[in-house]
Amino acid sequence: MAGMIDEKKKEVGEKAVEYIKDGMVLGLGSGSTVYWMLKKLGERVKEGMTVKGVSSSLRTEEWAKEFGIPLTTLSKARRLNLAIDGADEVDPSFNLTKGGGGSLLREKLVNDAAEKLIIVVDDSKLVNQLGVFPLPVEIVPFGWENTAEKIAGLQCQPKLRRENDEIFVTNNGNYIVDCQFDEIFDPTALHQNLKLILGVVETGLFIKMTDIVLVGGESGVRILEKKEQRE
Ligand code: A5P
Repeated sequence: MAGMIDEKKKEVGEKAVEYIKDGMVLGLGSGSTVYWMLKKLGERVKEGMTVKGVSSSLRTEEWAKEFGIPLTTLSKARRLNLAIDGADEVDPSFNLTKGGGGSLLREKLVNDAAEKLIIVVDDSKLVNQLGVFPLPVEIVPFGWENTAEKIAGLQCQPKLRRENDEIFVTNNGNYIVDCQFDEIFDPTALHQNLKLILGVVETGLFIKMTDIVLVGGESGVRILEKKEQRE
C-alpha cells in the first residue's frame, strides 16, 4: 500500500514540473510529494532551465540545494509566478488542510505570494469535507497551554505535537497543536475564529488559494481546474 502511494506521489510530483516555464520564480512547497517535483525540476535545471525557487521549509531548502535548484528569498523575490505544494486534505471547493509536516506558516506565506498555486496530491487526500485529518494550528510557545484551552473551546481536541518524545518546534520557533474536529462544516468561519484566539499564529486551513489540483491515482494523473469546480 505504502509503495503504491509513493508511486502516485512520484508521478503527480513529476507531472507538476510540466507547468514550470523557463525564467519563472517559483514557490517550492513541502512534503514527500513535492520532493519528486524538486527532483525532476533539478534535472530540468541541469539541462539548462533557468528558474529561482523560494523554499517553504528548511527541509525543502536542503532538497533544492541537493538537486541544484537556485534559491532566492521571499524578501527578495516578493512576487512569485507559480507555487507548487502538497496537502493533507483537499475538499471539492479546493479548500485544503495543510501542515502535516509542520511547515504551514511558511507554506501559506509562499503560496499567497504566487500568481498561481498548483497542489499535488495522491487520491487518498481528496475528501468531501475537511476535518478527518487533525487540523494543524501553529501557536506561540509562551503560555501555550492557555492558547490550547481556548482552541478546545471551539469543540475540538487540540494535541500538542511531539516528535521523538520532544515537543515539535516549527521552522519559526513555534509549537503546533493538532486539532481533531472530525467534520469542518465551514472552513472560513473556523479559520477566522481560530485567528481571533490570542497566541494563534496561523491555521492549516488554506482557503480559496488553489488554482489547479493534480491528483495521482492508479490510472495516472487527473487535472482538476478551479473553473470546473465552480460549474
Ligand atoms: C507540510 O507542512 C504539509 O503541508 C505537506 O504539504 C503535506 O503534509 C503533504 O505532505 P505529503 O506530500 O508528504 O503527503
